[in-house]
Amino acid sequence: MSNPASPPAVGVVDDRPPLTFPPGFLWGAATAAYQIEGAAAEGGRTPSIWDTFSHTPGRVVEGHTGDVACDHYHRMGSDVALMAELGLKSYRFSVSWPRVQPGGTGPANAEGLDFYRRLVDELLAHGIEPWLTLYHWDLPQPLEDVGGWPARDTAARFADYATLVADALGDRVRYWTTLNEPWCSAFLGYGSGVHAPGRSDGADAVRAGHHLMLGHGLAVQALRAARPTAEVGVTVNLYPVTPASDAPADVDAARRIDGLANRFFLDPLLRGSYPADLMADLAKVTDFGHVRDGDLATISSPLDVVGVNYYSRHVVAAPVPGAEPEPYWRAPSCWPGSEDVRFVTRGVPVTDMNWEIDAPGLVETLRRVHEEYTDLPLYVTENGSAFVDEVVDGQVDDVDRLAYFDAHLRAAHEAIEAGVPLRGYFAWSLMDNFEWAWGYTKRFGMVHVDYDSQVRIPKSSARWYAEVIRRNGLAAQ
Ligand code: FCB
Repeated sequence: MSNPASPPAVGVVDDRPPLTFPPGFLWGAATAAYQIEGAAAEGGRTPSIWDTFSHTPGRVVEGHTGDVACDHYHRMGSDVALMAELGLKSYRFSVSWPRVQPGGTGPANAEGLDFYRRLVDELLAHGIEPWLTLYHWDLPQPLEDVGGWPARDTAARFADYATLVADALGDRVRYWTTLNEPWCSAFLGYGSGVHAPGRSDGADAVRAGHHLMLGHGLAVQALRAARPTAEVGVTVNLYPVTPASDAPADVDAARRIDGLANRFFLDPLLRGSYPADLMADLAKVTDFGHVRDGDLATISSPLDVVGVNYYSRHVVAAPVPGAEPEPYWRAPSCWPGSEDVRFVTRGVPVTDMNWEIDAPGLVETLRRVHEEYTDLPLYVTENGSAFVDEVVDGQVDDVDRLAYFDAHLRAAHEAIEAGVPLRGYFAWSLMDNFEWAWGYTKRFGMVHVDYDSQVRIPKSSARWYAEVIRRNGLAAQ
């Protein structure tokens, strides 16, 4: 083991206390199928919207695709051995829909299911709890061709797929997440179009968001029918939204973006209703005619756990006429009806994604979910950062990433002390991988991947995290 650097910077006195997490805290790391598996055309797998999108010139930086990715499909055994070496208690992975149900309808593909059966068996053999996400953005292309998530039928198709996977893996997987980050699927996929399938229509984004949640609700019911003992949840990506000043117009801008980013999902899923102010904001985009009687009851089907992905905070301000739109996920078209809201950068340190580093925002986010929405156990199902890494003498000393994890784990602990029933934490990501529209240019891994040789090198952050897991907490510095 290398000797990991610890935050803060050399020469700075650190008097932070050691922190211990509750017994049984579930320490994990996360990945997603399209980002790591490769083997895009093997074992009966057919294209998803991300295959089509990444193979469309101009969509992904440098034309990168997930065709090979981390070649995890062929290296699963050694990857699980690496997880065991790091002492992971749990591994959150996603199932590729077009691998287990090519085309998105009809019978299961036994060869595809076998891959996940082997993965789960391997995890269990190493004492690692499998945490299965059904949908991490890889919609089978034929379902997009008949309308995608803006079409209601896709929700029913998703529930059928959930049943196939539950029938095959329900005997050995305890934790099930239906959707990963429906905001991204809906608003980046169908609003701004920076994610697959690359469509850009505000009303379609809102419809997609609704049908994703409907699919979630139907899948919860399908999972319960197939496996009554499963622990079922959903993962949402949440952001504290802060007004740039206390001027009423800025405060209102924050209310609007909070509505679209957070409450659009939290309210239907956990309260069974859309917020009235959000519906009023969206009135010029949609009349919500796609919402049918009974949908919200289905969407709010009882859950066992709630997953929160946390990366950063949004700071927003009222429009200034003629202001330039911001790039990527702050693109105005991500925010139907509120395209004029400005996203403000405060000049605080950022990651290689240009996302502001804001650990206190994790405390705020977890407390909000618990205090305003639910008593259910919460899990941080993703948290992490991209930084530029350098391999020196076969080592990667990623002090910035390590410091990010350290700060956010301290925040997670603070949330627990404030009464949040936080039961686990998953680092994003186990290893460097295909970062969607950014291809392989952004590295989030605790393990470095050389995409030519596929050699894995645990970075300092991985060694440090292994020690955190071993101690069930953070050491005194
Ligand atoms: C989240 C995604 C995950 C990864 C991280 C950086 O939005 O769920 O796949 O891309 O961001």
